[in-house]
Amino acid sequence: MPVLNRASELQEEVTGWRRHLHQQPELLFDVHQTAAFVAEKLKEFGCDTVKTGIGKTGVVGIIKGNRGEGRTIGLRADMDALPISEITGAPWASKVPGKMHACGHDGHTAMLLGAAKYLAETRNFAGSVAVIFQPAEEGGGGGLAMVEDGMMESFGISQVFGMHNAPGIPLGDFAIRKGSLMAASDTFEITVSGKGSHAATPHLSVDPVLASAHIVIALQSIVSRGTDPLESLVISVTTTHGGDAYNVIPMDVKLTGTVRTLLPQIRDFAEKRLKEVAEATAAAHGAVAHVHYHRGYPVTFNHADETDFAASVAAKISGDSHVKTDMAPKMGAEDFSYMLESRPGAFIFLGVGDTANLHHPAYDFNDEAIPYGISYWVTLTETALAA
Ligand code: NI
Repeated sequence: MPVLNRASELQEEVTGWRRHLHQQPELLFDVHQTAAFVAEKLKEFGCDTVKTGIGKTGVVGIIKGNRGEGRTIGLRADMDALPISEITGAPWASKVPGKMHACGHDGHTAMLLGAAKYLAETRNFAGSVAVIFQPAEEGGGGGLAMVEDGMMESFGISQVFGMHNAPGIPLGDFAIRKGSLMAASDTFEITVSGKGSHAATPHLSVDPVLASAHIVIALQSIVSRGTDPLESLVISVTTTHGGDAYNVIPMDVKLTGTVRTLLPQIRDFAEKRLKEVAEATAAAHGAVAHVHYHRGYPVTFNHADETDFAASVAAKISGDSHVKTDMAPKMGAEDFSYMLESRPGAFIFLGVGDTANLHHPAYDFNDEAIPYGISYWVTLTETALAA
């Protein structure tokens, strides 16, 4: 079964929605216009329930099938944009200076709306489907906010599925893997405190610049000497701030950075060792390091059965040879991970062909992918909830 005919018929209308959303990008939880647009469409389609304000500005629509009772599955899209100035020059380019849909969440939202329209028309399934539109994927933890708001329990959602567009993968191809798909993303801040002095009298100082330089290097030994080379760990020190004058050894230096991992045990190890190495290296120079470690999005972990299922659905649309089931994991993070911690499910990538990369100012979602995305959601629902 290729792309569904009705999904192709919907392409023009859904492209209109996508371009409308593209012109009015909103950040993090502040997606009021987008959420209102989504809720209005879901009501117009005749969803049985439309609930707003979940996880601050998230929206859920419930569509009941007409093939009898059954369970409820969740399909999720994200609604937020990025603080980037768009350079596409497209007629539908962002009208908001400094903000743009550079990750294709406008496309994700439009495709799930298209699927909701289709599913509300046909209702050819047993049980219910919950279409989930979340705010704040790009750093705010909107997925976590919706889970903490009790979304899974209040709608009785038993499984969740997510999708992200992927530049560089041929249009309409899919890619997925079981287990760890995307990284956990943590941040840290290290304050190295010493003793200031005139730069001409270093023996009277405890130099935090030198100590912090040793810390930056020593942290890399956690990766290179402490971690199995076949496991993944990235530690990046990305900012260093200290001192104001050529001839003054400052009192302290601040380092910040990020830690990315694909396995919970490597994450625990990295957090523990980062503190130990920073503190001990500072101590070796007579300085003191205070480490603040902040856990961000967890690993996006695809459950085995749901991954097989998602891949089989993708194969129905695009054919076996167009579905890669052993893609390499990505070290980026994704907050659908919180929904996957709450319920079994799977996250899949949909190829959009040779476009600019995600988070690039020249990126624009490829509307040719819309029929594939709608077909995936509809086929997934009708297969998972077959009467
Ligand atoms: Ni994204």
